[in-house]
Amino acid sequence: MVFRAPNWILFALVALSLCAAVAFADADADDGSESKEFVLTLDHSNFSDVVGKHDFIVVEFYAPWCGHCKKLAPEYEKAASILSSHDPPIALAKVDANEEANRELATEHEVKGFPTLKIFRKGGKAVQEYKGPREAEGIVSYLKKQSGPASAEIKSVDDASNLIGEKSIVVVGVFPKFSGEEYENFTALAEKLRSDYEFGHTLDAKLLPRGESSVAGPVVRLFKPFDELFVDFKDFHVDALEKFVEESSVPVVTVFNNDPSNHPFVIKFFNNVNAKAMLFMNFTNELAESFKSKYRDVAEQFKGEGISFLLGDLDASQGAFQYFGLKEDQVPLIIIQTTDGQKYLKANVEPDHIAPWVKDYKAGNVPPYRKSEPIPQDNSEPVKVVVADTLQDTVFNSGKNVLLEFYAPWCGHCKKLAPILDEVALSYESDADVVIAKLDATANDIPNDPFDVKGYPTIYFRSASGKIVSYEGDRTKEDIIDFIEKNRDKAGDATTEEEEKKDEL
Ligand SMILES: *[C@@H]1O[C@H](CO)[C@@H](O)[C@H](O)[C@H]1NC(C)=O
Ligand SMILES: *[C@@H]1O[C@H](CO)[C@@H](O)[C@H](O)[C@H]1NC(C)=O
Ligand SMILES: *[C@@H]1O[C@H](CO)[C@@H](O)[C@H](O)[C@H]1NC(C)=O
Repeated sequence: MVFRAPNWILFALVALSLCAAVAFADADADDGSESKEFVLTLDHSNFSDVVGKHDFIVVEFYAPWCGHCKKLAPEYEKAASILSSHDPPIALAKVDANEEANRELATEHEVKGFPTLKIFRKGGKAVQEYKGPREAEGIVSYLKKQSGPASAEIKSVDDASNLIGEKSIVVVGVFPKFSGEEYENFTALAEKLRSDYEFGHTLDAKLLPRGESSVAGPVVRLFKPFDELFVDFKDFHVDALEKFVEESSVPVVTVFNNDPSNHPFVIKFFNNVNAKAMLFMNFTNELAESFKSKYRDVAEQFKGEGISFLLGDLDASQGAFQYFGLKEDQVPLIIIQTTDGQKYLKANVEPDHIAPWVKDYKAGNVPPYRKSEPIPQDNSEPVKVVVADTLQDTVFNSGKNVLLEFYAPWCGHCKKLAPILDEVALSYESDADVVIAKLDATANDIPNDPFDVKGYPTIYFRSASGKIVSYEGDRTKEDIIDFIEKNRDKAGDATTEEEEKKDEL
């Protein structure tokens, strides 16, 4: 079984030090079989049991082949050993999500990349994503905080400046007393969102670094490292508070670079339902400031119109460039991706072009962009190379019977299949009605309809008359040829094409 996350997640993951949870089947597992002592090993058989017995436990879902997991392992183990002597002890555990028997467990917990760490509270009744650092010391201090009270009391200016840093969102409740419905609702919110934001509460607004200092409360003041730097809010309904925190913590323009403190905002950007506009440029370029301010103006101008804006540094964007099939000589460039996967591109953009182009896009005047490898000059090998730009001609309009493999260059099963497909192609060399072809699905956009490519290799067959079947048989020369013979249209069947067209009308 193989599953594929929505593609834009994959691109985000590359930036966020995660391995995509794809191509499970291709793992060449080498289980680092060092003797681990402090991190508990869980699997599908005892996961619920063990989690059920803990008031607070962290579980890492990992895959043995994932480099980011290997890097985390010694840090995680070290943190586990330190936290085992914390009072009360904090338990760290791991699940091999690559193991067939544990995959359902991983799916249940929405594991989309590796490593994924989750915090389980109250025997698993409350689950939160771990959003802390990846080295031992950082893990320890993040988890100490997570296992303590959800909101910290601010009693001094020092408390306030320790809590309210330069990099993260901090939500502070100012109260005349630490009781009453407002205080309880604030605490409930802190409990709910504690892994996403830091929370504090105080009796004295004068201790806080920004905002009106004479307020007695109740008021919630949200500090953020961007835009207007703080916002006050006074509606203490839990839902209203949550909405306020979520909305105020989205920057007008999300910055995407190598700074890990920006990553929570990048995740938010990719998780929202808007169309996503992304401007990629070299941040050390002399025009960078001009771009940033013009882009920000555009983002303000299109606020509430269903587009979110991200500004990406070329330095951090290799994953994005590969995913979108972009070239460095196209920067500065702006690309918009809609939730249904359509893309729109403007390469070599100038600061003053951004607003009119986005307007054109909104008006439906920009044609979609499709990623394609160049059309091959020489396509004389037995297995024909198809790219996005030749898919229509080679597969849909050729009037031939086409077996098409969707592959990924890194996929082991695809490599194993390659010589077999060669043999199949050779045996059809003298048959002009049959084409054996392949398409690199990582370098070309493919239409979801009719091709449902969830893993590699995926093989489809389109008969001359347009019947489309996916190949599910064994990957042997004999079986593939049998399948082609069973599904192909023989010369003389050509009338079927006409008939089918009539049927459709
Ligand atoms: C859970 O079960 C696995 C497999 O039986 C075992 O290796 C592991 O030690 C168990 N974990 C705990 C914490 O009991
Ligand atoms: C606290 O939250 C609950 C649930 O949203 C709401 O019914 C109640 O009115 C809130 N209390 C105050 C003082 O806003
Ligand atoms: C960005 O521009 C600087 C200065 O012109 C240059 O040194 C650097 O290599 C560029 N970065 C990339 C990723 O092209």
